[in-house]
Amino acid sequence: MSDVRRVGVVGAGLMGSGIVEVCAKAGLDVLVAETNAAAAEAGRTRVTKSIDRGVKAGKLAEADRDAALARVTYTTDLGEFADRDLVIEAVAEIEEVKTQIFATLDKVVTREDAILASNTSSIPIMKLGMATSRPQQVVGIHFFNPVPVQKLVELVPSLLTDESTAARAEAFASEVLGKTVIRSQDRAGFVVNSLLVPYLLSAIRMFESGFASAEDIDNGMVLGCAHPMGPLRLTDLIGLDTIKAVADSLYDEFKEQLYSSPPLLLRMVDAGLLGKKTGRGFYQY
Ligand code: 3HC
Repeated sequence: MSDVRRVGVVGAGLMGSGIVEVCAKAGLDVLVAETNAAAAEAGRTRVTKSIDRGVKAGKLAEADRDAALARVTYTTDLGEFADRDLVIEAVAEIEEVKTQIFATLDKVVTREDAILASNTSSIPIMKLGMATSRPQQVVGIHFFNPVPVQKLVELVPSLLTDESTAARAEAFASEVLGKTVIRSQDRAGFVVNSLLVPYLLSAIRMFESGFASAEDIDNGMVLGCAHPMGPLRLTDLIGLDTIKAVADSLYDEFKEQLYSSPPLLLRMVDAGLLGKKTGRGFYQY
């Protein structure tokens, strides 16, 4: 049985806000940290809008939405995370930023056996653990986008993570959030991105070379293979910057050509064409 009641989420972007939503709906007390008041407000809007989808679809009562939203508090001060049982870091995939956050959490979280988790998809859990004095309590809890919809969580213990930490994180994800958990070793990309990212990069190369149009590539996989969405639309959903960050980490770790980012991806990231979240990627939104 999970002993997690008070959760902290660092970062209320695309993934962070989804994690906040599933935790609040599961009845947990959720404290969310953002870098400034405007980012916290944007996070609040994102969470509220997403929870509202359930009400509009007739799947969530207004009272349940209000109760879930009332469980969430926003702050710009990580110092308020002292009493958290579990903290999930979900900021952008920038190693220095993440290690800094883990070093701070190590200082402020007072519960001795608190779990310090990361939603990273590309940075070794070991690096985050080594930024703290308690790597045995640091673990990867990797969600999928959109978090309220996707049933999977990858659980990633590092070489130094205690099995008791991993087991408690697993109980949290499966019993409290109702996710299906798979375990992965602490290797770049874990299980899913190691398989998914080369496929997405191949689709970008195919489009870049003029082999087929974006619509035809996507329709090929949706209608020919029953994928819920095609690879270019999925790249837009995940974010081109995130795909590049995961590809870079896979390439750094394994030095295999199939993980290298095609030039079009690099140029689009430089141009700020990051997909759905910026209004333009391979498609317009
Ligand atoms: N929040 C909450 N609910 C959402 C949602 C969101 N952001 N987006 C969709 N939904 C719900 C809808 O309410 C709807 O629920 P219902 O069927 O019970 O009414 C259901 O999901 C289907 O939504 P839609 O009808 O609007 O749209 P689609 O049927 O086209 O589904 C999709 C949209 C769920 C995004 C689907 O296309 C899909 O699953 N695509 C694949 C996404 C995927 O592969 N994600 C993994 C990416 S990898 C990753 O995240 C790892 C990272 O490290 C890179």
